[in-house]
Amino acid sequence: MAVERTLSIIKPDAVAKNVIGKIYQRFEDAGLKIIAARMMHLSRAEAEGFYAVHRERPFFKDLVDFMISGPVMVQVLEGEGAILKNRDLMGATDPKKAAPGTIRADFADSIDANAVHGSDAAETAAVEIAYYFPALNVYSR
Ligand code: PPS
Repeated sequence: MAVERTLSIIKPDAVAKNVIGKIYQRFEDAGLKIIAARMMHLSRAEAEGFYAVHRERPFFKDLVDFMISGPVMVQVLEGEGAILKNRDLMGATDPKKAAPGTIRADFADSIDANAVHGSDAAETAAVEIAYYFPALNVYSR
């Protein structure tokens, strides 16, 4: 399986619950390396830009309001099959439907406050990584 990179965000609800370390442990136990990380408090413009693809969805404003409600922890994960592996660790978008033992089943309260984001495909991972870590290729040289 190819080594990939994916963008992960620990959302404001999970940061507020003080479970960054527990979530990082799951990434590391699954063989994913954290190769870059930033704690940020997103501006409205940054959150709207990140979720621009969802601009027409009915929940867009709620999603942006939530994402700017407190600090987030943003990281790049690297490993074999990292994109799918991270999505498997996260569980379904709605924590009520997330499989037992997934991050969302264990740490998320609702579909609005669902603990983590993860890129869903190679193309989106590349765009999302560049959004938060424009100089990553420079760092990794
Ligand atoms: S996904 O991940 O794109 O397949 O999921 P999707 O259902 O399309 O949701 C896209 C992002 O919107 C969030 N979401 C919501 N936020 C607030 N309220 C409601 N009802 C809602 N439904 C979906 C969902 O968590 C996704 O955010 P990210 O950060 O990508 O996980």
